[in-house]
Amino acid sequence: MKTFTTRRQVRSYLISQGNVTIGFVPTMGALHNGHLSLIAQSKQANQITVCSIFVNPTQFNDPKDLEKYPRPIEADKAKLEQAGCDILFTPDVSEMYDDNEQWHLDIGRLEHLLEGEFRPGHYQGVMQVVFKLLDIVKPANLYMGQKDYQQFMVVSRMVELLKIPVNMVMCPIEREADGLAMSSRNIHLTPVDREHSLVLSKTLTWVKDNFNSNDIATLQQHAIEKLAAEDEVEPEYFRIVDGKTLLQAKADTQNIVALTAARVGKTRLIDNVIVR
Ligand code: PAJ
Repeated sequence: MKTFTTRRQVRSYLISQGNVTIGFVPTMGALHNGHLSLIAQSKQANQITVCSIFVNPTQFNDPKDLEKYPRPIEADKAKLEQAGCDILFTPDVSEMYDDNEQWHLDIGRLEHLLEGEFRPGHYQGVMQVVFKLLDIVKPANLYMGQKDYQQFMVVSRMVELLKIPVNMVMCPIEREADGLAMSSRNIHLTPVDREHSLVLSKTLTWVKDNFNSNDIATLQQHAIEKLAAEDEVEPEYFRIVDGKTLLQAKADTQNIVALTAARVGKTRLIDNVIVR
């Protein structure tokens, strides 16, 4: 695997490879099997797979969260080598941003719903960095996880609005054996939190199994109550929404997704399930 830290190096290397199909997996590192499944999917369909590791400051609304974000770079490199990743791009902050740089792209309501309510500005930071990364890597295919469902929809909207020539691929959620969605933040869970955290995936599964399109509001209410009843768990939201607009699902909505965010002890977790 080749590792680069500057944009110029990545660009010149990719240009030197000629007309090859590039798959791209942007990450913030602390890699787990969820990230590695994206690499595997990219490897299947592209001649070159590029992964980026960059803990993007502009998408963190809590400075403490940014500070304590895990950065095990050597272990990450070993995992990427093992997974057969071709190129790793790990820029530092000054390589990616100018001082006092401004960014705003109006994508309408999508940005302000769900995560947007609890993490104002978060998706502007995500779009800002993904735009820059796409401009450097210029991939044919961009691999992102269903784990961050709203992020996928936000980036898709940006790609559509700015007419960026890239194909978006949504990869399924990788879970621990007991159902907890893999996340770089899971290492912050104490053993007790870890037990309580299972209520997220269990409640999502329960909603999928008990889905009744005529009574979505009641189902949603029961789900919130289940989360709130668990010790150490403080739900932020549990919503059953249209998979495209992320607005409240109705009886005749075709694609339905249930999404949740909750604090478990001091850790904030998100998860979702495609209901239909
Ligand atoms: P990060 O949280 O590191 O996630 C990188 C990619 O891995 C995202 O597309 C995410 O959805 C996917 N992913 C995370 N956990 C997963 C799981 N359990 N199963 C499958 N895929 C999973 O998301 C970001 O970084 C950043 O916001 C980024 C897009 C890199 C922009 O900074």
